[in-house]
Amino acid sequence: MIIDFRSDTVTKPGSEMLKAMMNASIGDDVFGEDPSINELERMSADMFGMEAGLFCPSGTMTNQIAIKCHTQPGDEVICDENSHIYQYEGGGIAFNSSASVKLLYGDRGRINADQVKAAINPSDDNHKANTSLVCLENTSNRGGGSCYELEEIKKIKQVCVENDLALHLDGARLWNAMVAKNETPKQYGGIFSSISICLSKGLGCPVGSVLVGKKDLIKKARRVRKVFGGGMRQAGFMAAAGIYALQNNIERLKHDHAHAKQIGDAIAKSSVAKTVLPIETNIIIFETIGATAQALVDKLKNTQILCYATAPDRIRFVVHLDITPEMVNKTIEIIKTF
Ligand SMILES: Cc1ncc(COP(=O)(O)O)c(C=O)c1O
Repeated sequence: MIIDFRSDTVTKPGSEMLKAMMNASIGDDVFGEDPSINELERMSADMFGMEAGLFCPSGTMTNQIAIKCHTQPGDEVICDENSHIYQYEGGGIAFNSSASVKLLYGDRGRINADQVKAAINPSDDNHKANTSLVCLENTSNRGGGSCYELEEIKKIKQVCVENDLALHLDGARLWNAMVAKNETPKQYGGIFSSISICLSKGLGCPVGSVLVGKKDLIKKARRVRKVFGGGMRQAGFMAAAGIYALQNNIERLKHDHAHAKQIGDAIAKSSVAKTVLPIETNIIIFETIGATAQALVDKLKNTQILCYATAPDRIRFVVHLDITPEMVNKTIEIIKTF
């Protein structure tokens, strides 16, 4: 039995999700005629109290479309150095939007309002790029699944309002944050200019993300999606998986979080971990003793456990819906022997 902790993107649809996909009503979405996509977009927007939604193939695309919509060429985007939009989207901020980035050094991927305020370029200084957008990530992937405090987000929003900046949320794992913090989508919808939510991470869909925001923004985003080559046709099969996931797979994330804590405790007690980052959701990141991460990943692979080295001295485990309690127990038994 292979136990795959490399990412929560490795899940495969179960029989109920597959049934929902097979029964989906479909049409040509480029003509706006796919009933399942229309329903998923409306449902997502309603959940967040936003006006509209746009279904896209990936979280990278929803983030990049949002950045394109909120900036002009030559503008500057403020984000944490560990942000997915900066680290893992192929330089898309520069490539797609011709914008530069002001990196902040936050706390496990989370930046604060004072840092944002200090990073804004004065709008009357022609030497400086025009700051137009702040991007947050909740939970933070490279921060080990860390969650923002809503109060800090509200403070950041205030800074954005005072300086006429848009505020985008990369909410690839926002579901995990909301379950861990007992928060609601509407609390987030009331703050952000746009939110990217992923269906293909903790919620277990094979594909898909939704960008939610105001009607005008989503109209513009739909045009940008076309330009990026992301207009899809009968993708309602995928949207049906998304609808199923939103109805069935959110509450259960608490089990993934509990499993992550159990595994993290075992790792902390083992001889291979120097430190384990605080475990708030479904991600475990630990520092190995010395630059031994890849060697340990290889050793674990021999025991059928797959995980991922995010740095020469860092390993990441991600718990997800295809990880059963039996797999958690087996993993803990193996870790105990290390
Ligand atoms: C925080 C975060 N944002 C965005 C993405 C991008 O999602 P996708 O792989 O669907 O492009 C990921 C992917 O893992 C992620 O972890």
